[in-house]
Amino acid sequence: MNIYDLPKALRHEGGLSRRLFLAYAASLSSIPLLSHYGSATTSHDLTKDPFTLGVASGDPDHESVILWTRLAPKPLEPGGGMPKTPVEVYWEIAEDNSFKKIVQSGKVNATPELGHSLHIEPRNLKPDHWYFYRFKSCDAVSPVGRTRTLPAPDASPDKLRFAVTSCQNFEQGLFTAYHQMAADKPDFVFHLGDYIYEYAGVNGKVRTHQGPETESLDQYRIRY
Ligand SMILES: [Fe+2]
Repeated sequence: MNIYDLPKALRHEGGLSRRLFLAYAASLSSIPLLSHYGSATTSHDLTKDPFTLGVASGDPDHESVILWTRLAPKPLEPGGGMPKTPVEVYWEIAEDNSFKKIVQSGKVNATPELGHSLHIEPRNLKPDHWYFYRFKSCDAVSPVGRTRTLPAPDASPDKLRFAVTSCQNFEQGLFTAYHQMAADKPDFVFHLGDYIYEYAGVNGKVRTHQGPETESLDQYRIRY
């Protein structure tokens, strides 16, 4: 495969955004990542909800925002309880939370190489605009997420309220500041640090991380 075909192949593999491509490409150590190019499971025996980790969005600009989910019916097991095959996922983004005004949609493959995670990058959205998004796979439908694009580059908003947060340890914190942050309704949030650390779980904290010190990709996925 020509190196210049990699972005296209990776996009097909996991709906990977251009913004994330360089980060992933830098960490690629083997070509088998591409081995499932073109083949997806359209139906499989997912007896549990694959959207246990919900949905998320971030990294907006004035015409796009990254939409994320990860299929993991059993997120605390290696492989997330998913088959070791690509799984087809349908995504849609709409102007209303009942999805009567869908503005974009598509089908992508969630692959085991990326932990069946997806990073969808819709294009040509309206600036400074609220949107709703969701994913579907087999008979399951994800929770609906709400997201927003940035104002146009030449816009001059009357005000722009943003919050900054940095390193925190999920095992230790009560995170009450987030309640206030949500109440303050910022236009966007800069998150600059960690959510988790690699250390083994310690009893007696607010909550206890599962497992020993994380060393493998599977362990990190479970920790997240
Ligand atoms: Fe940190």
